Amino acid sequence: MARRDPHSYCDDTQAETESFALRARVDFASQTLIAEVTLAFRAPAVSRLDLDTRDLTIERISDASGRALDHTLHPAEPYLGQRLEIRIPEPTTTIRIAYRTSPEASALQWLAPAQTKGGKQPFLFSQCQAIHARSIIPMQDTPRLRVRYSAELVIPRELQLVMAAADRGRRDDDASHATHRFEMPQPIPPYLFAFAVGDLASRDLSPRCRVWAEPAVVDAAAYEFAGVEAMIGAAEALFGPYDWERFDILTMPPSFPYGGMENPRLTFLTPTVIAGDRSLVSVVAHELAHSWTGNLVTNANGEHFWLNEGFTMYAERRIVEALEGPDMAALQAALGRRELDESFERFADRPEMTKLRPDLAGVDPDECYSLIPYEKGYLFLCAIEAAVGREAFSTWLRSYLTTFRFGAITTDDFEAHIEAALPGALAKANARAWIDGPGLPPSAKPLGSARLDAIESLHGSVPTAAQSSAWTPIEWALYLESVPRPAPEATCRGLDERYRLTASTNFDVLVPWLTLALKSGYTAVMPRVEQVLAEVGRMKYLRPLYTALAADPMTRDTAASVFARNAASYHPIARQMVEGVLRAQAGR
Ligand code: BES
Ligand code: ZN
Repeated sequence: MARRDPHSYCDDTQAETESFALRARVDFASQTLIAEVTLAFRAPAVSRLDLDTRDLTIERISDASGRALDHTLHPAEPYLGQRLEIRIPEPTTTIRIAYRTSPEASALQWLAPAQTKGGKQPFLFSQCQAIHARSIIPMQDTPRLRVRYSAELVIPRELQLVMAAADRGRRDDDASHATHRFEMPQPIPPYLFAFAVGDLASRDLSPRCRVWAEPAVVDAAAYEFAGVEAMIGAAEALFGPYDWERFDILTMPPSFPYGGMENPRLTFLTPTVIAGDRSLVSVVAHELAHSWTGNLVTNANGEHFWLNEGFTMYAERRIVEALEGPDMAALQAALGRRELDESFERFADRPEMTKLRPDLAGVDPDECYSLIPYEKGYLFLCAIEAAVGREAFSTWLRSYLTTFRFGAITTDDFEAHIEAALPGALAKANARAWIDGPGLPPSAKPLGSARLDAIESLHGSVPTAAQSSAWTPIEWALYLESVPRPAPEATCRGLDERYRLTASTNFDVLVPWLTLALKSGYTAVMPRVEQVLAEVGRMKYLRPLYTALAADPMTRDTAASVFARNAASYHPIARQMVEGVLRAQAGR
């Protein structure tokens, strides 16, 4: 027996799933999916099959001839879930499982009408990365194995179903139900399975791009993301043809825990990127870039996550550079550099987690999530690019994407490929220290930019109107991050009176400001902090605000009471993250 993924019970001596067919009824009343899945194998399954499951109720398992199969649902292990061991007396090409999900399914968030903009209809969405697909479907939940699928979901007739797959049509069944079918023609790792059900409207942005959102938000979303076709064009010029046919966008409810999720054919985006001025659309560039780095060339397991995210940060900034110029890309890289240092601090007592290729045996991928694979991976790729020159690097990147297209690879595969194409490049870039060493290698170069220098020369003093009048939101964020903390009360008051930061509706400016204010004891911002924590569930914003609140003995109780008030409306992953923050701060 061999388990090649520390986060899956998948055994590589057993049959591999090639495709699955899912049929499910979405039951809002019981917050469950009543489902049946048929797994089809590349070669017949024999003797035994181990599947990943989490909080599923298994009702019946049968083989291709309809014979019931004996099985054991093993005890739950933390974050991995339960191994479902199926005994297979006669070789079979398919296995059918009837089951139900739990209202606690970690991949699903069931929202009450009050948690939506419209306030009238409930909403359901999935978020499977990293290892939550198993709470919706019993399957081999490892990105090493790609699957095609079809899915037929029965939903309340007044709602819409959208899925990260190709639409194969909807029919109304009776006065209260509709059945909607989708098919995923391109093979995907299980973490890219995704759908949502709610009161949704859409606007076409181009022949291959459509934006979906609640009716009250859809026009704002269409305005914000109007540039998406141009983005795809820029990305294709850099990385080759777009392989997924459509690039639609689903604007999520505010509780969506991430900025975006690269579900193929249908990217999920937090509504907080709708700033009204298109200033935060680099998140769209990021999720689009995953169409090449991550979705086409996929990390074989969580230990190689940097292959997904580090490459995607690099690709995102190449897209931004092509569309908005090198200055903008440099500012974003500079902000990333700051966030990387914060992440290193957070993991100061766990150096293993600061390696590009960490050992994740016994580690929950949600619990160790950070920007390290993103920003350290980005800097590593920039170091290689600097060693060989942009042209040679870009040519290599294209051949890498072509070679491993629709594949799953490890860091060793990456190294072997680049060594063959660009001999000596890895050594020149100091790859060993980047990949297997903690923190940043001493050879890492500081990032330079004239606009960044202008911000840093302020040394945290309040900028004059002349100095800051041309600042973009990202420059405001960089400035606010650069202010030494605690900042004097006069600085906080001066900033707020002059620039009305507490009233900002751009979360990438507002949250750095509120964090600075909290760390400086500037309590005038408290009502706004509480408002943000009640309205938004994106972890990028929850983490710094709860950390700052809980770190200060004066506001620690507030952190606990605000969390108690809002926990039920946060996504399960976000809830777990905030609990971790409160626990860590209490133990200091
Ligand atoms: N794939 C990630 C989100 C993710 C990672 C979900 C790991 C679950 C587990 C997505 O592409 C991402 O990186 N989102 C970022 C946005 C970005 C611009 C860096 C986020 O959510 O902040
Ligand atoms: Zn990403």
